[in-house]
Amino acid sequence: GINNGDYDLERPIDTSLGMRRGLTSYGDAHFSLFLRKAFIKALGYSDDALSRPVVGIADTRSGFNPCHANAPQLVDAASRGVMLAGGIPIPFPTISLHESFAAPTSMFLRNLMSMDTEEMIRAQPVDAVVLVGGCDKTTPAQLMGGISANKPILHLVTGPMMPGSHRGVRIGACTDCRNNWASYRAGVIDIEEIAALNDELAPTAGTCGVMGTASTMACILVALGLMPFKGATAPAVSSARLRIAEETGANAVKIITAGEKLKPQSLLTRESFLNAITVLQAIGGSTNAVVHLLAIANRHPTVAGTITLDTFDEVGRRTPLLVDLKPSGANYMTDFHNSGGMAALLHELRPLLCLDALTVTGRTLGEALDAERSIPVPRALSCIQPLDAPLYPRSSLVVLRGNLAPHGAVMKASASKDRRLLRHSGRAVVFAGSEDLARRIDDEGLDADEDSVLVLQNIGPVGNPGMPEAGLVPIPRKLAARGVADMLRVSDGRMSGTAGGTIVLHVSPEAADPASVLGVVRDGDVITCDVDARVLRVEISDEEISRRQEARRRAEVEGEEGSKKHNPWKAREKMRGYRGLYMRSVNQADQGADFDFLRAEGI
Ligand code: FES
Ligand code: MG
Repeated sequence: GINNGDYDLERPIDTSLGMRRGLTSYGDAHFSLFLRKAFIKALGYSDDALSRPVVGIADTRSGFNPCHANAPQLVDAASRGVMLAGGIPIPFPTISLHESFAAPTSMFLRNLMSMDTEEMIRAQPVDAVVLVGGCDKTTPAQLMGGISANKPILHLVTGPMMPGSHRGVRIGACTDCRNNWASYRAGVIDIEEIAALNDELAPTAGTCGVMGTASTMACILVALGLMPFKGATAPAVSSARLRIAEETGANAVKIITAGEKLKPQSLLTRESFLNAITVLQAIGGSTNAVVHLLAIANRHPTVAGTITLDTFDEVGRRTPLLVDLKPSGANYMTDFHNSGGMAALLHELRPLLCLDALTVTGRTLGEALDAERSIPVPRALSCIQPLDAPLYPRSSLVVLRGNLAPHGAVMKASASKDRRLLRHSGRAVVFAGSEDLARRIDDEGLDADEDSVLVLQNIGPVGNPGMPEAGLVPIPRKLAARGVADMLRVSDGRMSGTAGGTIVLHVSPEAADPASVLGVVRDGDVITCDVDARVLRVEISDEEISRRQEARRRAEVEGEEGSKKHNPWKAREKMRGYRGLYMRSVNQADQGADFDFLRAEGI
């Protein structure tokens, strides 16, 4: 109706909904609303439209983000859903991060995007927000911001891209980018072929089509109850995806009337996170999701501190790997979707789930599963294994500890290509950073054989800002040419969720930290990794470690000028801008690599 009553100075304004929400700017609430409506009317809205619940739609389209190329259609379809349910949709932009166009790394910018998202949700008069995104860092950033802002949120991911084709074989970003590049490096395929492959690896809009970080986080959003079952897997370019968008828009209007109970800080509980970790283990998901989930959990006032690296290992010990997707397996996200997707997987995992956890529709996960009536896919045609015949019995992601990683390290054991390396001791070949690695890895004279342990230092959160996905240290060319396909590799960095190999990541504390052990490992030290015992150790005494750390401190004090470049730990005090903020505030991987000041208060 017409709201002239809004301007009646004798009547207090009900600020519970929409355009009337949060009218604090001018002291005079009636004038604030008068002004706000005057401005928004420049867009052509009627008083009727402006009297409706307002659903903000966070739009992350960008010419630099092919993973979000379908965001315009999704915003349209979500808007239609909002209007069909009686609300008014108002899209707004936030920054957009694509993996390949976010130097130095997208992870460097994840926390910035979370701040952008949090503050825009807070600042604008929205009653609920649909978060449109999909690429690796986007969904974590949006959820971190959404939990902190604590208005109702619903996720709408852009969805996986379709696979491409080369010589009659399906290929897809980005596992096959890496496999084929490795073949090219080893001289197995030639320059014409690698160029032809380049056209087919990302053939449509959408996120990487394997179980990389984007797909992993999408599945996790379903497990957390923040998306419909099909929301994780429907292809970016499918009509199903548009119907999901419409449904999400409608759900956004309904969630508003539910009040406190469906705001993220109430909806999400420790049980929701246990469900998320169960799914992460069952899909053989990206190691990056471990860092993201820790950051997300630590934004939540009551969950913070109750989900730790050890939680991932504990859940892993009872959770088998069920989904046969690259990089752990053979298939693509479209196959997962066609096998029944998350609904089918969650039905299999039922005995391992907390079914009382809430979802954004107000139903529990158990109720939502009961109501799900999809026709089962014949076993032989499905890439989802039953619980009693898993692909890998348990613990696809493991947490390792020991003197080399006192605060923990992570490995995707299910993606190991040479299982003998899961229990292995070998001599360290140490690279001091990415540049050192690039300079020497293909050196004919490199003192390394297939039993060596390749150690890469200084690619942690502070050491190489944004903790680049450089943990997949390439096999030295001379060994690759001899057919060596996998070696034990250790670093404080991350690895793309689309990559595989026997690779220890996220070593905490990182090498740049003067108190770390990783920072003082040397060539020839024997490193032991034992996945069954969850151990990562360097075979040197505590005394020797202390001696080396002391020598490192002295060298850094004496060679002040020369070492500054290599000592970001010290240099960060004087850095300007966002980089300075990042360097001074980022915490370690075992805490989520979030900014300390963004964690929930009181933990
Ligand atoms: Fe965006 Fe892979 S680059 S999902
Ligand atoms: Mg990735």
